[in-house]
Amino acid sequence: MTPHNNAKFGDYAETVLLPGDPLRAKWVAETFLEDAKQVNSVRNCLGYTGTFNGKRVSVQATGMGQPSLAIYVNELIDTYGVKNLIRIGTCGGLNKKAKVRDLILGMSASNEGNMFKEVFGKFTFAPTADFSLLRKAADLADEKNITWHAGGIVSGDSFYQPLGLDAYKPLTAHGILAVEMEAAALYTIAAHKNCKALAICTISDCLITGDEIDADQRQTSLTDMAQLSLELAASI
Ligand code: HPA
Repeated sequence: MTPHNNAKFGDYAETVLLPGDPLRAKWVAETFLEDAKQVNSVRNCLGYTGTFNGKRVSVQATGMGQPSLAIYVNELIDTYGVKNLIRIGTCGGLNKKAKVRDLILGMSASNEGNMFKEVFGKFTFAPTADFSLLRKAADLADEKNITWHAGGIVSGDSFYQPLGLDAYKPLTAHGILAVEMEAAALYTIAAHKNCKALAICTISDCLITGDEIDADQRQTSLTDMAQLSLELAASI
């Protein structure tokens, strides 16, 4: 038990999918897992464990933003012994080649936030995905004919940037593909604790063209992403 989690030790699998939204965690568990059991209910930040392709897998919501994700990830690793953490979410596209519905595999996550500034002093740490997870996710996406892009993403602190798209110009000038709000903390904490992490995000909206995913496409894309991520989790 922790202040944010009433699961018992052993309730989580070694591999956990991490959506931001608690209802997406519930949907993944109830739609795709066999024998899904709810393991966390604190703050309605729902967590579940079941099996997929015969392998134990968990799914735990993280809430939005790096400080919230960091609470759940620290506790999953330190209290529950989780080893592999796969964020599943949506992101805003920042590059014309990456279209709405495409999958972004975050190789690295630049950071608007300051949570880890003091840890690194004068250095700038480059939060990086685990290569074995990234390679496997790309292979699975190819098998499923899902268009994917691997590259740098940025974890923003403000969904509503006061400067709008201009805020991202220094990043797009350096090839950053998309913005979301959690991956940098996930990669940094996983690196510190010798765990594997990857962020897999569907582009829900393109900040450059203004394109947005519609309701039907959103459901199909989320289904594709959930299945791919669960196959990845079951293959570890
Ligand atoms: N900004 C941050 N996170 C997001 C966005 C966005 O525009 N779209 C989906 N997740």
